[in-house]
Amino acid sequence: MIEVKNLTKHYGPRRAINNLTFQIEKGEVVGFLGPNGAGKSTTMNILSCILPASSGTAIIQGHDTFEHSLEIRKIIGYLPETPPLYPDMSVRDYLLFAAKIRGISNKGCKSAVDRVIEKCSLKDVGHRIIERLSKGYQQRVGLAQAMVHDPDILILDEPTIGLDPIQIIEIRKLIQQLAASHTIILSSHILPEITQICKRVIILNEGEIAAVDTLDGLTASLRKSERLSLTVRNGDSDIEEKLNSFEQVLSVLPGEKNQYIVECELSSNLQDEFARLALENQWGIVEIKPIAMTLEDVFLKLTIEEKDVIA
Ligand SMILES: Nc1ncnc2c1ncn2[C@@H]1O[C@H](COP(=O)(O)OP(=O)(O)OP(=O)(O)O)[C@@H](O)[C@H]1O
Ligand SMILES: [Mg+2]
Repeated sequence: MIEVKNLTKHYGPRRAINNLTFQIEKGEVVGFLGPNGAGKSTTMNILSCILPASSGTAIIQGHDTFEHSLEIRKIIGYLPETPPLYPDMSVRDYLLFAAKIRGISNKGCKSAVDRVIEKCSLKDVGHRIIERLSKGYQQRVGLAQAMVHDPDILILDEPTIGLDPIQIIEIRKLIQQLAASHTIILSSHILPEITQICKRVIILNEGEIAAVDTLDGLTASLRKSERLSLTVRNGDSDIEEKLNSFEQVLSVLPGEKNQYIVECELSSNLQDEFARLALENQWGIVEIKPIAMTLEDVFLKLTIEEKDVIA
């Protein structure tokens, strides 16, 4: 439904995105993840027909973003990094205005606004002036304007940035509800947000795609080693040395008190061996368990350590 091919954007001499190719299916919730300047907003601006690409194509439900931008604007709702609000208008007046400029008939405007006010839980603030609302409520108004024409696709650029933790939870809940009936592209720096809301992630780095995968797939494909955590009751000066004596053990790092983080080759299955060793040496096992690689590990690996792992 969204098909991006070799998308490139230059701002003068600066190349913001380079040769991006990816697809997004109907109903998917996809996260754009990447550090500052990675090209997330630029890509979203092109998909929303705010900016033209320098080269490459983006086809959305059969329409080209460059050739048929009016068609695309009907099926896309966009919440940019800074919501396009008129601060001195009331919430309801602003949304009526947003509905009108979307080409909704006078008759249809009221019901469209009622619908988004209900969806975004804005009922209690409908008559309030936007600039006097909290940032979280202003963000809801931004979301409401993006949805006023009932688009199939929502593009949300860092929708929780600058909000306090309670507001973040509320906006995330709202996005999760919207995910049931929309295709959503969401950008974020916040890794747990992506893991909570998105099924698939596109990691951008310096304008290029570092990885496209499901969260599980991404973590699994990058795992070249596995880690075990061993916690014992009786500290022993030669535990590290004994654990290191296995050929498949790559490193042993001391963790919290009497805990050892053992990095092993993949599929080493050393739990039983470690248990036997602990018994023989009377270390007293408190816990032995595998440590899953977090998305944060993967993100850092892709954007800092090994940005060429997956092209
Ligand atoms: N209007 C512009 N003129 C010149 N360069 C720009 C412009 N907008 C963005 N850039 C540059 O393009 C690159 C990508 O920027 P973009 O805003 O798309 O990144 P981003 O991933 O959204 O970053 P952030 O996380 O900071 O929002 C950056 O190097 C940025 O400086
Ligand atoms: Mg941005």
